[in-house]
Amino acid sequence: MTLLDGKALAAKIKEEVRQEAEKLPRRPGLAVVLVGEDPASRVYVSSKRKDCESCGFYSEEYDLLAQTPQSALLELVEGLNGREDIDGILVQLPLPGYMDEDVVIRTISPEKDVDGFHPMNAGNLLIGRESFLPCTPAGVMALLDEYHIDPAGKRAVVVGRSNIVGKPMGLLLLRRDATVTLCHSKTPNLADICREADILVSAVGRRNLVTGDMVKDGAVVVDVAMNRDEDGKLCGDVDFAAASEKAAYLTPVPGGVGPMTRAILMKNTLLAAKKRQNLC
Ligand code: GUN
Repeated sequence: MTLLDGKALAAKIKEEVRQEAEKLPRRPGLAVVLVGEDPASRVYVSSKRKDCESCGFYSEEYDLLAQTPQSALLELVEGLNGREDIDGILVQLPLPGYMDEDVVIRTISPEKDVDGFHPMNAGNLLIGRESFLPCTPAGVMALLDEYHIDPAGKRAVVVGRSNIVGKPMGLLLLRRDATVTLCHSKTPNLADICREADILVSAVGRRNLVTGDMVKDGAVVVDVAMNRDEDGKLCGDVDFAAASEKAAYLTPVPGGVGPMTRAILMKNTLLAAKKRQNLC
């Protein structure tokens, strides 16, 4: 079994991004907005700041209190839309329950939507036009490419149908000529379907959802989830020890998909900066 080393590839991508950013007339700028106190989100946001530093980007972080009215968030985003020095805007999800995520995402200018969540970018992905790609699924594709795993003609099974991961993951695999099955909480016989997968991607957020018997011999298994076990240790959806007996390729958690998501965010921000400076 070969480990899909996302940490190593992410470091390589970020170094390439840093070198390219250095050549731009103006350095790329990313604004990250966090609403409320979710501790996991806080960790993600601070790691994005570090990524910006290591890529030589300008970054701004906005910490809004949990009770901030939605109108104030929308005003902030509109202000960032108009800023010359800000190329990418990321509003950390999930937002507090009283906010309408859809309205907030639509307010982000599609040209600065480095998450690829705006309906304009999501729609362009659907119809196969150029767009900002959501960072996690794009990171998974980069990882497959790095290990010369060609999805064409393969049976790909994606577990999870979120707008952030599952749906765009399915579309990206389809674009590369995989035969894609999207599974979710209402799918009967999940184990049987997973067992057919040449490429199995799990993005649910439930520890041990994917057991060893659900993995076909020689499969590529990608674990997108970030869960914690009873000792507080990070783990994914896949029973790693059992899956490693069957899979040909497997992502570790941590050190698999997580660092790739962050690296693609830097790549998307560089792309936004280049487009906004008419360099591509
Ligand atoms: N929450 C979990 N993943 C993501 C992501 O990729 N982008 C944003 N904005 N929020 C998230």
